[in-house]
Order: sequence, then C-alpha cells, then structure tokens
Amino acid sequence: MKILEVSGCGPLRGSTVTQGSKNSVLPILAASMLGGGSEISNCPSLSDVEVSLRILRHLGCTGALKNGVVTVDASGANAVNIPDGLMREMRSSVIFLGAVLARHGEAEICFPGGCRLGPRPIDMHLDALERLGAEIEVDGGRISCRAAKLRGAQINFSSVSVGATENAMIAASMAEGDTLIANAAREPEIVDLQDFLNKMGACISGAGSNVIHIKGVKELHGASHRVIPDRIAAATVLSAAAASGGRVELGRCRPQDMEAVLAVLGEMGCRMEIGSDSILLESRGRLKAPKPIVTAAHPGFPTDAQPLLMAACLTAEGNSVFIENIFENRYAHVPELRRMGAEIITSGRAAAIIGTERLAGAEVVAADLRGGAALLIAAMNAEGVSRIAGTEYIDRGYETPEAVFAELGAQIKRKEVKDAEQQQKKQAQEE
Ligand code: UD1
Repeated sequence: MKILEVSGCGPLRGSTVTQGSKNSVLPILAASMLGGGSEISNCPSLSDVEVSLRILRHLGCTGALKNGVVTVDASGANAVNIPDGLMREMRSSVIFLGAVLARHGEAEICFPGGCRLGPRPIDMHLDALERLGAEIEVDGGRISCRAAKLRGAQINFSSVSVGATENAMIAASMAEGDTLIANAAREPEIVDLQDFLNKMGACISGAGSNVIHIKGVKELHGASHRVIPDRIAAATVLSAAAASGGRVELGRCRPQDMEAVLAVLGEMGCRMEIGSDSILLESRGRLKAPKPIVTAAHPGFPTDAQPLLMAACLTAEGNSVFIENIFENRYAHVPELRRMGAEIITSGRAAAIIGTERLAGAEVVAADLRGGAALLIAAMNAEGVSRIAGTEYIDRGYETPEAVFAELGAQIKRKEVKDAEQQQKKQAQEE
C-alpha cells in the first residue's frame, strides 16, 4: 500500500505553477472521439486521465499522453460499449455516453463509479439524452441507449449538473437541428468544453451563462486545444500556503475563475496580489475564521474547495461554519482531521470548526480526492509526522503533489508500506 509521509514543515514559501484542469480535460477527451486527430495540451498526468485514455483505446481510438500533450486519433472508433471495470473507475466515464451515442447511434455502459460523496445519480444525463431522441433501457446495472438520429431539443434541467450539461452539449453538437439547454451549469470547464467543440467544427454559444445554444452539425473534425488551469488545484496550493502562514506565488492560474475562494482567503486575513494569470498570497499571524461558507454551483463557493478551506480553518482564530449543499456525503475527511486534533462537529449538511492552536501528526486515510487533499494540507501544518493512506484518491486529481509542495519547502515522501503494518498502527490508535 502506498502512503504519503508528511512532516509538519512550517510556512510554505516560493513559487509554483498550476496544473491543467482535470475537470476540463476529462469531458474534452470524451468529446475528442467525435473527430479525427486531436492534440490536447496542458493535460495533467493523473490516474483519471489514464482511465479516459484506456476508454478511448477500448472504443477503437488511439490516445496517449506525453509531456503534457494528449494525442488522440478517433478515426478508427468502432466500439459502442465500455467495459464495467473502466466505467467503475471514475464517475466522469458517464460523459462518454453522449459521445458514443452521437458517433455510433448506440451506446452501452454500466453505472459509473467515482469518489464516494453520497448517491450520485445519472438521471439528468439520461433525461437529456432522451430529450435528444435516444431510447434508453436500464436493465440491472446496465444502460443501453439507441438513436438512429439524435434530434435537437429544448432541455430544461431541474437542477444544475456539470456532467449532465457536458453530456448534453457533446451529444447535441452532432444532432439534427438546434438544442437549447436551460438551467445549464456555468462552470469554467463548461466554457472550455464549448471552446474545444467549436474548434472541432461545432456551433455552440452561451456556455458560462445558464442558457446554452447548440446548432447541430453533420460532422466534427480533430482540433488542437490548450486546457485551462485547474482552479481546484490552485485553491489547494493557496489553502496550504494560507494555513502554513507562508508566502507563495502561484503562476499559470485564472484568478477570474476563483473569486469565491479568493474572497474567503481574503476574509481570513491573507494578503493577495492578483495578476492576470498569477496570485501572490501572503499569510501572517493566525488566520481568522471566515463568515459561513456555503457551497453552491459556480460562481458560488465550489464544493470541491470545501475540504481544502476546512483544512485551513482548523487552526484559525474563532469558529468556522460550512454548509455543504451539493453532495450529501462530503465530510469523510472530518473524522480523519479529528485524529490530528481538529475540533469539528457535523450535523447533516453543516460542519462547525472550533479553531485550535495546533494540530498533531497522525495516521489518516483519504476516502475521496479533495478530502485527501485536505488531509495533506492539515498534515503540512501539524506538529510531527503524518502518514496518509488512500493515495489513489489523491492521485486521481493531483499531479505529483509531493513534488509541487516540496518546491515550496514541504517534506512529503511517497512510501510503500505493508498493509498489515498500516492496519496495526490504525488499530493501536483506536485502542
Ligand atoms: C462535477 C465535478 C466535481 C464537482 C461537481 C460539482 C467533474 C469531472 N467533476 O461532478 O468535481 O464536485 O461537478 O461541482 O467535472 N445530480 C443528480 N442527477 C444527475 C446528475 C447530478 O441528481 O443526473 C446531482 C448530484 O448528485 C449532485 C449535484 O447534482 O448532488 C451536482 O452534481 P454534478 O454537477 O452533476 O457533479 P458531477 O458532474 O458529477
């Protein structure tokens, strides 16, 4: 079993750059199967990207990542089903449904996996595809979709879903006629997907607002595209810098995508110099607890940044409150943070943190991607050594986090330990 061994390190200092966006590149990779040869740059090397490439290859495309550039050749795409093993590895695999259906007129998948953040239904994805004319059969865990020809339609989402908006955009781009998506998600990654599809020859406008128009086209071709910077990876570095009382310059980021997170960091007492593509953050003295943080769809406070800012609030002066409105089960990091000495009370969707002066290193286990990142932030800010298991979750979204934070003065080692040894330590702690 792999772990990250983190020694509490004092203030983080120095500069680093932001990786490309995971949540942008995954739908873009799915969309790439609608064209011929595409070249996608600024692609982070992540396990979720590797899963997407394996899905593309299974579907008859070629796809490889080298030096941050993915090359895909979709001209040989011939398969309509995605094996269960690949579907279960990540939630975003469901984005391939719209792409395979648009390309071949049929698709067969099982329900997707992903981080365990509570029930993650895909009813809105399926409803949108049905609106576009697909016939859908759900039998046990398998979903079969068929549509001799997808037709443009009006899709009114009852609530905001990033993935369902993306699936609808991809499928509608090659449908016959016009599609209007109302109550669309407004995340920057939706705009990035629109940009990529338009470079492929699609005719989409409105992404970034809650209404998206798509004029269906007969065919799409390959395109070159640079993926936007990852606003959640950026928020991770800034939260870690803030919690450590450090001074970090973050390059190649998009501050305009991060307003809600930057507002909270400012409220907590961080001084920031914000450039067009950089943020210099300085944190001196003890952070102050911010006003209650309520997660919401973009441009609200992102649910993915909730665990990160929670980690920064643990040692702030005063009490902090979080209300998690997007996912039902997004506090799996809380019991692990408590092991480090954090004082947190949860009740349903709410969590209250009573700021404590110091944290202590502990043996902890990541149960999901951003919760894992929260443990990393807390461990860098704790006295003594922490060992974080569940690194496979962290690797889904962060490219060599140990190297990124080492550049800033952190001491993080990736180690292989025997399962039994880790288990014993966990038991000893519980006893
Ligand atoms: C995406 C992001 C994820 C982020 C989330 C919310 C990617 C790869 N992942 O996930 O990092 O945390 O947006 O910003 O981009 N829902 C339904 N039915 C559906 C679909 C969603 O009820 O068919 C619900 C979900 O359970 C959740 C809410 O809608 O409560 C929002 O989920 P959604 O925006 O779809 O999240 P993802 O696209 O899965």
